[in-house]
Amino acid sequence: MKDKIENLAKQARESLEKVANMQSLNDLKIKYLGKKSELSNLLKEMANLSSEERPVIGALANKVRKEIEEKIAKKEEELAREELAKKLEKERIDVTLPSTKIKRGSKHPVTRVIEEIEDLFVSMGYTVESGPELETDRFCFELLNLPQGHPARDMQDSFYITDEYLLRTQTSAVQARTMLANEEKTPIRMICPGKTYRREDDATHSHQFTQAEGLVIDENITLADLKGTLEIFAKKIIGENSKLRFRPSYFPFTEPSYEVDVSCFKCGGKGCNLCKQTGWIEVLGSGMVHPNVLRMCGYDPEKYSGFAFGLGLERIAMFKYGIPDMRYLYQNDVRFLSQFDR
Ligand code: DAH
Repeated sequence: MKDKIENLAKQARESLEKVANMQSLNDLKIKYLGKKSELSNLLKEMANLSSEERPVIGALANKVRKEIEEKIAKKEEELAREELAKKLEKERIDVTLPSTKIKRGSKHPVTRVIEEIEDLFVSMGYTVESGPELETDRFCFELLNLPQGHPARDMQDSFYITDEYLLRTQTSAVQARTMLANEEKTPIRMICPGKTYRREDDATHSHQFTQAEGLVIDENITLADLKGTLEIFAKKIIGENSKLRFRPSYFPFTEPSYEVDVSCFKCGGKGCNLCKQTGWIEVLGSGMVHPNVLRMCGYDPEKYSGFAFGLGLERIAMFKYGIPDMRYLYQNDVRFLSQFDR
């Protein structure tokens, strides 16, 4: 019996020495320590031993059992450590490798111009207003002194949806909205950038374009205020050295009315292909708010006066960024757009 136990211990030591993975270690554990293991069977046979032999064999069996248990525990720890090391090696991360680039979008040039204009006018105490792109005939024309059948309606080819609704042809509609919405009829200083629509489509016109409208209503507002404001606008938005030229013009909602040119930013006024050798480029329409408009929108023209202006933002963006064809602004080619990301 003693030999059997010692033999078993020897066998166990040898196979534990050789074991190389958890699975075989578990198998050995069952083989040597499990309920049906040889050691258990030998211990069952102890009942047949004499009372002198029993304690000696019992002590030996326990010693062997303990030894096997300890060896297995040690081996288990060793294997676990090895497996972890292997796993870490396999999943190794090289923190010096370049990461996947997150693609950043860039702002559209027209959006940049809108933000600059908003910042400038907000700094001068203006509010930023907006109105619907699907507009009524009343706000887009009638309240702006363009009654049904007025010949100046032909200046703008409109997309009518119904007899009453159209896609707004000008942000000027927001002038009337702002004045009417102001129930106390207090002074107004507002700027309104937004999309506008007309039935045209060629190299210099698109059926959808962007305008910004300005409106100031207060007591004692004069043409000098309009001029001063537009000069600040030209210097800050177009260029520090730009000069303005006011040409008398006609708009139904202003009297007097002006088309305003800015000295050519390409040649500085000497004459080039951009300004068609004139030295000037038209950028906006403006004027003193017509008394009819004030009256229809609830402002007393005896007490209040005001000025208004409207400009096309695609043109401003083209000048600012040297974009030769307006259609680039609508194609949303990322290669084009990302150039303005500075
Ligand atoms: N709404 C005009 C247009 O689209 C531009 C304009 C002219 C706006 C004179 C104004 C203004 O506010 O006073 O052609």
